[in-house]
Amino acid sequence: MEESRRQFVAALTAGVTGALAGCGGSDSGAPTEDGTETPTAGESPTPTETSGATEVSQVVAVGADGFNFSPANFEVAAGNTVRWEWESGGHNVKADTVPGGSDWSGTEGSDLFSSGHTYSYTFETPGEYSYYCQPHRGSGMTGSFTVTQ
Ligand code: CU
Repeated sequence: MEESRRQFVAALTAGVTGALAGCGGSDSGAPTEDGTETPTAGESPTPTETSGATEVSQVVAVGADGFNFSPANFEVAAGNTVRWEWESGGHNVKADTVPGGSDWSGTEGSDLFSSGHTYSYTFETPGEYSYYCQPHRGSGMTGSFTVTQ
């Protein structure tokens, strides 16, 4: 018992000494953070989306909290763009019902996508839309929205 306690104290002392030594490394008195003020400012990739950039009116999280779309229901005006953002992998967006005149079918084929994927679509046809995630439809991964005139 006495032996293990001594080892513990020794280890503690060594740790404290090391910390103090690290602290004492700077004798100028100035905090070492100075000088590393802007480490990445020069190379931050600023997206320069100018012409052709589509304004997204509604973002839908895909699989952010289990098998769901969030929000599960929303409304956008015709001509607006909806963007689905994958928060987890193995999901897709497949149209179930769409209003007459709309040829929206969702994401390509039966492809599934990984976290970080985004899919956008600009809805021009007013009406009620419903859709689902193909692998998780049975788990209730469905959504719907209304495009208003
Ligand atoms: Cu899914």
